[in-house]
Amino acid sequence: MANIDFDKVIDRRNTRAAKTDALKELFGKEDLIPLWIADMDFEVCPEIAKAITDRVAHHIYGYSRPSEEYWQSIIDWQKEKHNFSFTREELDYVPGVVKGIAFAVNYFTKEGDKIVIQPPVYHPFKMVIEGNKRIVLSNPLIQNDNKYQMDLEGLEKIFATEKPKMLILCNPHNPIGIIWGKDTLAKLASLCKKYGVLVISDEIHSDLAVFDNVHIPFATASKEAEEISILLGAPSKTFNIPGVVSSWVVIKNKELRDGFFKWLAANEYNEPTFFATIATEAAYTKGGKWLAEAKKYIEDNIVFVEDYCAKNLPGVRAIRPEASFLIWLDCSRLNLDHKKLIDLFVNKAGLALNDGEMFGAEGEHCMRMNVGTSRKLIEQALSQLATAIKEM
Ligand SMILES: Cc1ncc(COP(=O)(O)O)c(C=O)c1O
Repeated sequence: MANIDFDKVIDRRNTRAAKTDALKELFGKEDLIPLWIADMDFEVCPEIAKAITDRVAHHIYGYSRPSEEYWQSIIDWQKEKHNFSFTREELDYVPGVVKGIAFAVNYFTKEGDKIVIQPPVYHPFKMVIEGNKRIVLSNPLIQNDNKYQMDLEGLEKIFATEKPKMLILCNPHNPIGIIWGKDTLAKLASLCKKYGVLVISDEIHSDLAVFDNVHIPFATASKEAEEISILLGAPSKTFNIPGVVSSWVVIKNKELRDGFFKWLAANEYNEPTFFATIATEAAYTKGGKWLAEAKKYIEDNIVFVEDYCAKNLPGVRAIRPEASFLIWLDCSRLNLDHKKLIDLFVNKAGLALNDGEMFGAEGEHCMRMNVGTSRKLIEQALSQLATAIKEM
């Protein structure tokens, strides 16, 4: 099926969508073009909508059991799309990737333990670590012009001196959209293994590799990576269903897995709602065509933003993502301090983007723009930004 009209502008206000209905609370005003939180403005593929609607039409919403087909759909998708093989025993449900990270942080570390992140990076990593009274160690990415790299030397220094217990990897990387190469992942794994550091690999953006880039699941980078990884994924970003709350965890290492999966079960954290299993199964078995169309539309949006910035916004440099629908805009050439940059985007241009500092001090002078939306809105947003900059 598929053939969705991705150009269609859909009014999401008053649907309990965070993207629209939290604008006033978070940005101080409602009349903004919302290009922030990482969900897309596209309708889901018809097969997902039908699977959910069919189940809703049966008016008994009792306790549910995940079907074998649900588990198999995750296993088959990963094997087919990412050449990542695992068994049903190595897989479990978690109610969200961030909650999965939080469960692993709580289970595998204790208060006062140190955990490494590589900013600028998805901000809840830091919040989970600090909120659970663990200590954040930062190993910032190295920026060379438009390219960001992992600082493996810096990492080894931190490992040797600070003795962290864990590292949270964003693979692919949000907010910059980096796809980590196999060589980098294998070197990372080797260092982590040497210093006894567990890796939580957040792979929520993995299905959204664009422009022929290829995602490498961390656990497949090397034997060492397989042994030390707790890998989290979801159909949520891929198929635009984060509100359904369906995610999964794979741990290949039996020793790590047994205790953690028992703990998840003891606390009933691994029990999906029927919406989660139904939407996931429909997505992974029938959503391929929709996803291909969505990714093509996103690629065209990215190219549009790049061209627009190059031609009309000399102060704003769009850094091309290798994965996902988020573009990292380097605004340093506007020469504005952080407060003035936010004022320009929100109050002068009427736009709601994530400001770069949210992802760590290293994100200063940057903004993260969500292009998982209609081209028309993107055109309007960039034109408003161009006018606001001219009037500065
Ligand atoms: C890297 C990353 N991890 C996790 C999440 C959120 O996942 P969940 O809603 O499943 O907790 C996001 C959402 O933007 C994300 O970008």
